[in-house]
Amino acid sequence: MKEILLGDAYIRKLDEVGDHKTTVMGVEFDVARGVFSPEYSLCSHLLAQWTSIAPGESVLDVGTGCGVQAILAARRGAGYVVATDINHEALRNAERNAKKHNVTINTFPDLVFAALIDKSGRGVFDVVVANLPFGGGEAKTSLEQALNDPDYKATREFVFRAPDLLLQKGRAYMVFSDIGDINWLEQRLAEDTRLYTRVLHEELAAGHVWKVYCLTRKER
Ligand SMILES: C[S@@+](CC[C@H](N)C(=O)[O-])C[C@H]1O[C@@H](n2cnc3c(N)ncnc32)[C@H](O)[C@@H]1O
Repeated sequence: MKEILLGDAYIRKLDEVGDHKTTVMGVEFDVARGVFSPEYSLCSHLLAQWTSIAPGESVLDVGTGCGVQAILAARRGAGYVVATDINHEALRNAERNAKKHNVTINTFPDLVFAALIDKSGRGVFDVVVANLPFGGGEAKTSLEQALNDPDYKATREFVFRAPDLLLQKGRAYMVFSDIGDINWLEQRLAEDTRLYTRVLHEELAAGHVWKVYCLTRKER
């Protein structure tokens, strides 16, 4: 990671650099123009650092971008990996990075949570990772959609669906920051009747608080 940039400065920098390479946990990824880059943000690094995967586990990466979390999970020995993103160029970018690292990931457009829950309504994932936008405002371009999720629609759906996506003893890792409305998120998580939330990590960087959460099902 070169530096942490926020909002318009982040978008301007990515427009300026275009296609480039970035490294997360010592692994190099290609990042295409218009796709979120870990090169100028901390969230991808924190989530990767605090996610633990046991060999053979099934993993869902929600909002995969250039595929960082999905590909690192596969490299750590995950048995079955699914990656979703609203940005179809991001999915193509993630597939190219998977090929580069000789791992298999299964890409799905958008959130498609319903399609990822087994027909009897049971979750199939040991691990779900989510690095969704911290902002709740409007987004016009695909890059803006990586930073802004209008009214936190995707985050709301993710939190609502997480208990259905997870196997009974599964866990979800999520990163968030007070760049956005972290109080809203924490209140939503605290009120959830089906999920326990633990803060795994908290740090101050670039004038903001960054947190990694671990969510588990109450009914285990
Ligand atoms: C902050 S980036 C994280 C990218 C990557 N997971 C990482 O750790 O570097 C957020 C990603 O979520 C995607 N996204 C935003 N809204 C989404 C939605 N409703 N459904 C699926 N993906 C979404 C964006 O396109 C973007 O790639």
